[in-house]
Amino acid sequence: MFKKLALAAGLTLGLVSGAYAAGGEEAHIENFKFSFEGPFGAYDQNQLQRGLQIYTEVCSACHGLRYVPIRTLADEGGPALPEDQVRAYAANITVLDEDANYHLYDPEAGELRAVTETDHFPAVNSAGAPDLSLMAKGRAGFHGPYGLGINQLFKGMGGAEYIASLLTGYTGEEKEEAGTVLYENTAFPGGWISMAPPLYGEDVEFADGHSNDLHHEAADVAAFLMWTAEPKMMARKQAGFVGVIFLTVLSVLLYLVNKRLWAPIKGKD
Ligand code: HEC
Repeated sequence: MFKKLALAAGLTLGLVSGAYAAGGEEAHIENFKFSFEGPFGAYDQNQLQRGLQIYTEVCSACHGLRYVPIRTLADEGGPALPEDQVRAYAANITVLDEDANYHLYDPEAGELRAVTETDHFPAVNSAGAPDLSLMAKGRAGFHGPYGLGINQLFKGMGGAEYIASLLTGYTGEEKEEAGTVLYENTAFPGGWISMAPPLYGEDVEFADGHSNDLHHEAADVAAFLMWTAEPKMMARKQAGFVGVIFLTVLSVLLYLVNKRLWAPIKGKD
């Protein structure tokens, strides 16, 4: 019986690892350190503000954030911009594509209306680039080994790490395939992506003089995109923590009650 089991297990493992190996070269994801990792991690407000600036000045040319309400930029636990800055931010957004931004189209006036803070970030469809609102939750940086998810258990899902690694993972190699230029990238599955390197370092100037080398910029915008994908992460962690405390107290109480209830019977031995 045991022999059979061992054989079956061995075979399965062999098959799985075979399939895994057949998947080709594994993408390289760097394990960036983010402030929001771990059970007590929280977003770094300044980092989110820097990430917003990078998104606005670089990524928003091609990528939308259509599920993110602009007013949430003022949220505590998020970028926490002052209200007047949020209003000014919204007023500065220009919308070019009326189909993609149907909710900003004023049918009575027959024209696009100005963006206000009660709107969402515009969707951007012109460049064929995916919306980034939920990208940090839609991608996993860490997998395996062998589909067991052990890396994810210890390092987290790695959505933000994936984005940061993608932005720093360009090798400089290019090739053209069916009329599209592809750029070699060590983090992108398959190794070739059609997005030209959007960041080279020193792409933006931060008002507080924070480092703007490629590595920092990539981490900042990745953190910002983690926040857009999971704006309530802090509240979730807090609720989880309260839950754990509650269950711990409850367990102790139940243990003591159990002891007391059985005391008359057990005490007789
Ligand atoms: C010139 C247009 C352009 C700019 C600017 C741009 N991107 Fe992209 N991006 C694209 C295109 C096109 C794709 C789709 C690439 C593909 O699937 O081959 C893409 C894909 C992505 C993806 C998804 C990769 C995946 O796993 O599918 C992420 C994440 C991303 N971009 C992040 C960013 C960030 C962050 C910035 C700003 C720092 C940015 N992009 C700036 C055009 C752009």
